[in-house]
Amino acid sequence: MEKIPTSIGLIMDGNRRWARQHSLPSFEGHRAGYEKLKECIVWAREAGVRSVFVYAFSTENWKRSPEEIAKLLELMDWALKHEEALFKKEQVHITFVGQRERLPKTLQESMKRVEETTKDGIIRLFVGLSYGGRAEIVDTAKRIARMENSADITEADFAAQLWTCGMPDPELIIRTGGERRLSNFLLWQGAYAELYFSDTYWPDFSKEEFIKILNYFSTREQREGA
Ligand code: FPP
Repeated sequence: MEKIPTSIGLIMDGNRRWARQHSLPSFEGHRAGYEKLKECIVWAREAGVRSVFVYAFSTENWKRSPEEIAKLLELMDWALKHEEALFKKEQVHITFVGQRERLPKTLQESMKRVEETTKDGIIRLFVGLSYGGRAEIVDTAKRIARMENSADITEADFAAQLWTCGMPDPELIIRTGGERRLSNFLLWQGAYAELYFSDTYWPDFSKEEFIKILNYFSTREQREGA
């Protein structure tokens, strides 16, 4: 492959439809989705990708049933408490992006701990938790408005204040599950990203398909500004 994307974004859609297809409760779809995410990070690292941003819980996801929200957040809490050694072994440096204050205190503590203990990892995993592109841009605009010389800010200054500060913009965004929309995902950062939409439900996503998408990316001309 000639050109590997340095940074990719993943919209892991189709967990509940996968669960329904297998006559399982929704939660089993999210659990299978989490297992797939772990596999996909290893494929990405092996291919030479340096940074992955995943949509694990969007600002819109707060509208789901209290039971589903609780189960999803419990899954994350469980993963951070029980799989820290695995993240370290796989050399994954995890950073959380989003409205932390809306999350349970215990989860916030686990997030902080894992960010610290995985910081020597070689592939960055940015996990969007209570993340939304518009909320991020509005929050950033408010903070900038309070700064001195805010009228003179540049695009680079604005980007440096975003919640994702330090993350390279995604060159490729993959959305599974058949929808062809961005749904509030990395609205600023994805301005020049190549978009790839797959009909596969996220838990069925395979290494073959991932490599096929990387090959597709490498054959595309990067036409920034087009
Ligand atoms: C979208 O599918 C997926 C989610 C809302 C949750 C994704 C979360 C994970 C895979 C767990 C991540 C865990 C950690 C620790 C990072 P959907 O529920 O919208 O499915 P549907 O489109 O079939 O309804």
